[in-house]
Amino acid sequence: MRMRDAVVLISGAASGLGWGAAQYCVREAGARVVMLDRNAEQGAARAAELDPGRCLFVQADLADEAQVAGAVQRAVEHFGSLHACFSFAGVVSPMRMLDRDGKASSGATFARTVAINLVGTFHLLSHCAQQMQRNPPDDDGERGVLVTIASGAAFDGQVGQTAYASSKAGLVGLCLPAARELAGIGIRINTIAPGAFWTPMLESLPETVLERIQADFQFPRRFGRAEEIAALCCHIAENHFINGECIRLDGAFRLPPR
Ligand SMILES: NC(=O)c1ccc[n+]([C@@H]2O[C@H](COP(=O)([O-])OP(=O)(O)OC[C@H]3O[C@@H](n4cnc5c(N)ncnc54)[C@H](O)[C@@H]3O)[C@@H](O)[C@H]2O)c1
Repeated sequence: MRMRDAVVLISGAASGLGWGAAQYCVREAGARVVMLDRNAEQGAARAAELDPGRCLFVQADLADEAQVAGAVQRAVEHFGSLHACFSFAGVVSPMRMLDRDGKASSGATFARTVAINLVGTFHLLSHCAQQMQRNPPDDDGERGVLVTIASGAAFDGQVGQTAYASSKAGLVGLCLPAARELAGIGIRINTIAPGAFWTPMLESLPETVLERIQADFQFPRRFGRAEEIAALCCHIAENHFINGECIRLDGAFRLPPR
């Protein structure tokens, strides 16, 4: 798939890495972008700031399938087709299995996190694939590309990350069977497992956790930059032979236990 003039739906595009990807896709790759987020105020403002001619903001909560279906439909009505989906939307929800008194967690945080990060992403991928299968195939038979954003926590989850790590490990597990299923209609799917990138999500973590993370940086000894993950998304979209894969993007960083 060529990124220039392609229509790319980016979820979580109102903030952090998704917003960085939206800027990169429009400014560096020359794509047209559908910015999906549940935060309408920030998302609409950023779409207008970026390029109203090449950007459309659509509000949707990933956990609500009807909203996701409507957003994908709007994207196709607006730009005429959909070629790629980079799904960044997600939440980090610290939780423990047992509370301070040793009582079992209610599981509400766990269920909500999985409903957004895993089930919500699944809805988005399915509705995008439903549209992409109508695209005319290119010379290689390709009709679309999906990229999900997991996390290093899928492999090295910390204490307090049972919900988050489970949801992200689910995305890693989803990737290969989805690639195998969608191969028949020329749609590829890959996932990226980022290390630590400085965004509002990371800013929400306790100072002690951030200090431990920084102490474990390898090379480069810094947080990742949004344009580094955006560039990888675009490369995946353009390189037909990357399929069914989970790529760690972390400068050899591994999350410590706590
Ligand atoms: N920042 C990091 O170091 C890091 C590391 C590993 C993985 N990730 C993953 O990268 C993705 C982006 O993270 P970020 O750091 O940019 O976070 P962020 O909090 O800055 O941005 C997340 C965006 O997703 C949106 N969102 C959340 N829940 C939603 C829902 N139910 N429906 C629609 N939109 C929703 C938010 O409104 C926000 O705009 C997440 O999936 C996160 O788990 C981030």
